[in-house]
Amino acid sequence: MVKLVKKAVFPVAGLGTRFLPATKSVPKEIMTLVDRPLIQYAIDEARAAGIEEFIFVTSRGKSALEDYFDHAPELEATLERKGKQDLLDALRGSNMDSGAIAYVRQHQALGLGHAVYCASRLIPDEPFAVILPDDVIAGEIPCLKQMVDAYAETGGSMVAAMEVPADKASAYGILDVGSDMGAMVSVKGMVEKPAAGTAPSNLAVIGRYILSPNVLRTLGETQAGAGGEIQLTDAIAKEITDGDGVYGYRFRGQRFDCGSKAGFLQATVSFGLARPDLRGEFSEFLDDLAAARHAAE
Ligand code: UTP
Repeated sequence: MVKLVKKAVFPVAGLGTRFLPATKSVPKEIMTLVDRPLIQYAIDEARAAGIEEFIFVTSRGKSALEDYFDHAPELEATLERKGKQDLLDALRGSNMDSGAIAYVRQHQALGLGHAVYCASRLIPDEPFAVILPDDVIAGEIPCLKQMVDAYAETGGSMVAAMEVPADKASAYGILDVGSDMGAMVSVKGMVEKPAAGTAPSNLAVIGRYILSPNVLRTLGETQAGAGGEIQLTDAIAKEITDGDGVYGYRFRGQRFDCGSKAGFLQATVSFGLARPDLRGEFSEFLDDLAAARHAAE
């Protein structure tokens, strides 16, 4: 019987250098898609997947993240008095139950694998999810929920997977596929950022994981890998031979790389167009913009 996944780790201790100077004082995860910070999308996805405990791996300069999840009784009272129910609902969606959220510190940005390892004392011996908030995934069924359902059948460890063009493979962790069962693949190898032309497939790992607690033990013993960082991919790959196997899950949905400027802009446009209250005015603006560009060419 596969254990339920109740805990999720959110590694948010990276330096976010691609968004400097903004990230000098604003954590990347607090940057806003339409009217919600990236971290809120990640939390909502975790809740939809049945996660009950939320572990943030933070670092210096990220206190805005902790403040974001505080309750705001004065603001709530004001909105209530003014009858602004929509805003009140939006605000309450960011409240976390006392005790459901924990923060651990990564004192040095030694890589994603190290960040996940920093949460290990809070995850004694159970499977857990990892969500990278800068991978925002839009879909009818939230990505982690799709994975939790699939994981109930497989156990082991599971990574979200997405086809990428061959010339982009060296930016990702890439799966070496054993058997391909459609949405699910069994994984026989994993390579972090393969050199051009050496990728074993075009199936890339995206920032959602369900991991066996063995991965935390392995991370404790893992040496720095590609880029001088302690790589999560290397520790997961060890589960292929020494653990209960690794599966890739081709999720249904559209992924935006909000860790990059182009991806963040694409997500902003897409999420803006998906909002009924903004769609009309915004799409008119985009149409006018496209027409003006067309005319200028
Ligand atoms: P990125 O590779 O996007 O790095 O991390 P980054 O530092 O956030 O951003 P850039 O590349 O400098 O612009 C992927 C995820 O892993 C976390 C990040 O916070 C992000 O959620 N991370 C990365 C850590 O928590 N600690 C690290 O040491 C590295």
